[in-house]
Amino acid sequence: MTRIFSGIKPTGHMTLGNYLGAVRRWVETDQHLGESLFCVVDLHSLTVEHEPARLLRLSRQTATLLLAAGLDPAVCTLFVQSHVDEHTRLSYLLECTAADGEMRRMIQYKEKSEQARAAGQGVRLSLLTYPVLMAADILAYGTTEVPVGDDQTQHVELARDLAVRFNQRYGQTFVVPKATKPVVAARVMDLQEPTSKMGKTNAATGGVVFVLDEADVVRRKVMRAVTDSGSTVEYDPEGRPGVSNLLEVLAACGGGEPDELAGAYTSYGALKRDVAEAVVEVLRPVRERHAELAAEPGYVDRVLREGAARARAMARPTVDAAYRAVGLLPAG
Ligand code: TYM
Repeated sequence: MTRIFSGIKPTGHMTLGNYLGAVRRWVETDQHLGESLFCVVDLHSLTVEHEPARLLRLSRQTATLLLAAGLDPAVCTLFVQSHVDEHTRLSYLLECTAADGEMRRMIQYKEKSEQARAAGQGVRLSLLTYPVLMAADILAYGTTEVPVGDDQTQHVELARDLAVRFNQRYGQTFVVPKATKPVVAARVMDLQEPTSKMGKTNAATGGVVFVLDEADVVRRKVMRAVTDSGSTVEYDPEGRPGVSNLLEVLAACGGGEPDELAGAYTSYGALKRDVAEAVVEVLRPVRERHAELAAEPGYVDRVLREGAARARAMARPTVDAAYRAVGLLPAG
């Protein structure tokens, strides 16, 4: 049976990249495939410098936005990672399965530890073990498919490796999951720096569109997007990353193929205007629904409470089995 698990970090406000690369697909397809779980992975947000009051606000906002985007608690399980202890319990066993060198090779660890050092901050040990906690998120639920954007595929590969290794050492315990990627928008790029991923934490330059940005803010950011030195509109992600990113966003918002859409434009200005309107229209219903739900925090809390109870019940047998498999004495 298909079991889907995916997660989003409340490290910053949800971006257009998160929405087009992951969340929209969870809503439209993934939640309806078999059993599905979606998680606000708040513990992962503790792996870099953070401000407690902001994390609290962003965790609630992210959960509210997932509901606003259309995750339906009647068909999927939506919950917060720190509400289900099984994740950290299992993470420790997987730390005892993973190797130190394997962690240091992770691209995201290299990038994020570099950024922390450059900012004069210490590198938290949990940043190194981040992918192990992510593997625990996935493996605790017998997950078969993990819908993620491009940047997370290496982490899902690690979860697969750990599942296989654990099963070989201690007997069949975990299902071996696989990553699934969106057809378009697997990697939405920063509008000001189109060779880097649009990420929650590099918002300073205006290259990141947030799901909750006002329409005029979205328009301004898109109209100021960096394009390339040429003047024709062509889809060529290597040679023309700025314009190609805009074409991909347009395709993801309105349908069609980026290379075919390119043929319809003779100027960057017209393309940007259409991208801006397409993004505004895609985000509008989410923003409106978010405003309604934000006025009902009791409802969101109830969904999260019920989600955590369901998740706990699903994870516990697998995590208990893993504890027994490695030879830990049952508590009795
Ligand atoms: P996070 O919070 O960075 O991103 C959530 C999802 O959004 C996708 N994404 C993007 N897709 C396209 N273009 C972009 N610019 C873009 N930015 C982000 C991500 O690929 C992801 O699917 N480690 C994960 C969270 C996590 C998780 C898990 C995911 C923790 N445990 C277990 C799956 C299963 C992360 O940092 O996602």
